[in-house]
Amino acid sequence: MNDTLLIYYSFEGNTEFVAKTLTEKLKVDVERLQVTNEPPRSGLGKFLRGGKSALFQEDPGLKPITANVKDYYDIIIAFPVWAGSYPPAIGAFLEANPFTGRNVYLIGCSASGNASGAFDKLTRKLQGNTILGTLSLKNPLKNQDETRERIREFAARRN
Ligand SMILES: Cc1cc2nc3c(=O)[nH]c(=O)nc-3n(C[C@H](O)[C@H](O)[C@H](O)COP(=O)(O)O)c2cc1C
Repeated sequence: MNDTLLIYYSFEGNTEFVAKTLTEKLKVDVERLQVTNEPPRSGLGKFLRGGKSALFQEDPGLKPITANVKDYYDIIIAFPVWAGSYPPAIGAFLEANPFTGRNVYLIGCSASGNASGAFDKLTRKLQGNTILGTLSLKNPLKNQDETRERIREFAARRN
């Protein structure tokens, strides 16, 4: 078992790419969050239903996770930005697995904006923990070389 747990949710593969790249650079245990309720994969409904689900933090039907979060000192949370916030999978995970006194790193993937609003909201939700770093990545799958470089810098700062 490693000291660090990487928890992530990915709807369209970008955060998954980030998680895979990160695991090549850092020794971490990894947990991908899976849910039963997701927005449609295409069309306007993707953004409307997905955005609403994030704003209202609708119950995504989070599937059980295997890791025990309390076994880890450091927790990295990676997610796509949805409607300027974090997706319900992340909110549901934090509700189901409350923790304090941990070092937390946040990684947000976005398309047009950045992840700072989502970081602010999560920082409030994670009161009692220390946010040691944040990384905002734009369109990781479209910008793979840049993303790899930013993750390399992030991992080097952490070591
Ligand atoms: C429902 C929904 C809402 C989104 N809202 C935003 C947003 O507010 N700002 C933004 O920059 N990107 C937004 N995006 C784009 C994603 O954050 C971006 O494509 C991200 O890289 C996707 O990560 P993933 O492939 O791991 O799901 C949204 C995407 C979806 C599906």
